[in-house]
Amino acid sequence: MSERTIALVTGANKGIGYEIAAGLGALGWSVGVGARDPERLEEAVGKLRAAGVDAFGVPLDVTDDASVAAAARLLQERGGRLDVLVNNAGITGGRPQEPTVVDPGLVRDVVETNVIGVIRVTNALLPLLRRSASPRIVNMSSSVGSMARQEAAGPGEGQGPISAAYAPSKSFLNAVTLQYAKELHGSNILINAGCPGFCATDLNGFRGYRTAEQGAQVAIRLATLPDDGPSGKFFDDDGEVPW
Ligand SMILES: NC(=O)c1ccc[n+]([C@@H]2O[C@H](COP(=O)([O-])OP(=O)(O)OC[C@H]3O[C@@H](n4cnc5c(N)ncnc54)[C@H](OP(=O)(O)O)[C@@H]3O)[C@@H](O)[C@H]2O)c1
Repeated sequence: MSERTIALVTGANKGIGYEIAAGLGALGWSVGVGARDPERLEEAVGKLRAAGVDAFGVPLDVTDDASVAAAARLLQERGGRLDVLVNNAGITGGRPQEPTVVDPGLVRDVVETNVIGVIRVTNALLPLLRRSASPRIVNMSSSVGSMARQEAAGPGEGQGPISAAYAPSKSFLNAVTLQYAKELHGSNILINAGCPGFCATDLNGFRGYRTAEQGAQVAIRLATLPDDGPSGKFFDDDGEVPW
């Protein structure tokens, strides 16, 4: 078994996921680069290796059972365990998303990736995580999923665009994160949700005011929590985010 900490980052071919992979690699970790497109995967692994990261490719579409099972087999064969899983892959689903006009199919697609994809990947990899001395799971959420902040934004206003798909998918993901933490309480697995802030990536047409590298920092912090660290919480760079 590898002495190095082994991590997997989903959706790591670009944006915040790529920067999380780069940041974890800079710690000397072995980093599985999860990506659904073979060419984008190869390119990202090549770039990370050129930067000195011990990166390896993990073909992974989080919406596809067979792809996730194959990724679990690859990790089993490669390291026999997984120390850190960062569930980063996510989509907004496009527009319109206002509740009164949204296409229910769009909502279903967003939930399939942003929530069910996380459950699918996490459960497939739990047997490998359970073999780690200090397993950590980080779910990349968003403060737009904070019900408290949505309420505080006031009537007629959203925390981010008013949406029946993307923002509620992150509320759902937050709720699921908390439920995992409850079930895993008493084990050595810590699971938390992180918000990267509004970062300039493909996800928002590069309108964010933070860099993807800045957005990656919260995930790196939650991936490196000490054994007595929190679980079942939601954080951004400024501290805990209300549910
Ligand atoms: N950017 C922000 O301001 C912001 C704010 C709050 C939260 N977040 C969250 O941070 C995470 C990363 O976002 P980002 O801004 O870096 O977005 P991004 O640049 O669009 O990257 C998203 C990544 O997810 C991958 N992905 C999408 N669907 C997938 C699937 N079915 N299977 C595997 N990979 C899939 C994409 O792969 P492809 O290249 O193949 O499409 C890409 O690698 C997301 O969960 C997002 O919701 C972002």
